Amino acid sequence: SRVAVIMGGPSAEREVSLSTGKACGLALREAGYDVVEVDAGPDLPARLSEIKPDVVFNALHGRWGEDGCVQGLLEWLRIPYTHSGVLASSLAMDKQRTKDVYRAAGLPVAESVIVSRDAVEAGHVLPPPYVVKPNNEGSSVGVYIVHPGSNAPRLAAAMPEQVMVEAYAPGREFSISVMDDRALCVTDILTDGWYDYDAKYKPGGSRHEVPANIPAEIEAACLDYALRAHRALGCRGLSRTDMRWDETKGLDGLILLETNTQPGMTPTSLSPEQAAHMGMPFPQLCAWIVEDASC
Ligand code: DAL
Ligand code: MG
Repeated sequence: SRVAVIMGGPSAEREVSLSTGKACGLALREAGYDVVEVDAGPDLPARLSEIKPDVVFNALHGRWGEDGCVQGLLEWLRIPYTHSGVLASSLAMDKQRTKDVYRAAGLPVAESVIVSRDAVEAGHVLPPPYVVKPNNEGSSVGVYIVHPGSNAPRLAAAMPEQVMVEAYAPGREFSISVMDDRALCVTDILTDGWYDYDAKYKPGGSRHEVPANIPAEIEAACLDYALRAHRALGCRGLSRTDMRWDETKGLDGLILLETNTQPGMTPTSLSPEQAAHMGMPFPQLCAWIVEDASC
């Protein structure tokens, strides 16, 4: 069948999406699909009318591609598409509302508030250490970590008018992928500093321990939380939930940061690595995602 892989787009994660899209396009050809790669611009509806794909493989990340916008367009065009639908995508892209959904599902989160950038620059909104981040971006774009003893940060002009200020959750960083009704495994992300954009995408920028070398009780909780997060948000297909674990606090030290409805599929990304660990090579993972598409 014919698959249009939509990628790129105008978000801050454009380059990441191009990398995801190229990798998935290649893998889907290998799996036998007729693939058309599309850089998603304002002409996307016209391009899709021309191409007439059986399925759209959504390889977009960030705003417009991961937040329900393109999903709404595909619903309107009646083209089956991969990953989550409109509501789950919009919810998951909004980090604060995601926490409301997590809390309602009994899942642990770090305290956070949404405030204006002026308020952030005027002084500490939460006692340091805390993190300032856009409420709706990915790949750690625009994230500030404020340590005790340092001043309130000055934010880059590109930061949105309203931002999230979140209590800093110390400890190790875990990531868990879910494929519909199955949580795959836990990756422990080892970095020199923190898992910022470069650590995410530069070859050798971080080391991934798959599966994480952690107590069975913590591993079970990670898998359970990731699956419950996927379900509570109403995700479809593949998602990936990121967590932090303060091992000095045992199970109480485990909190959820967010769920990604369009997990990266770049050569350094976590979900393909987890699927491979579970015995599913990349072309097979991409094919599974396509076969799971609907609208
Ligand atoms: N936002 C990036 C693509 C990820 O979560 O993998
Ligand atoms: Mg993210």
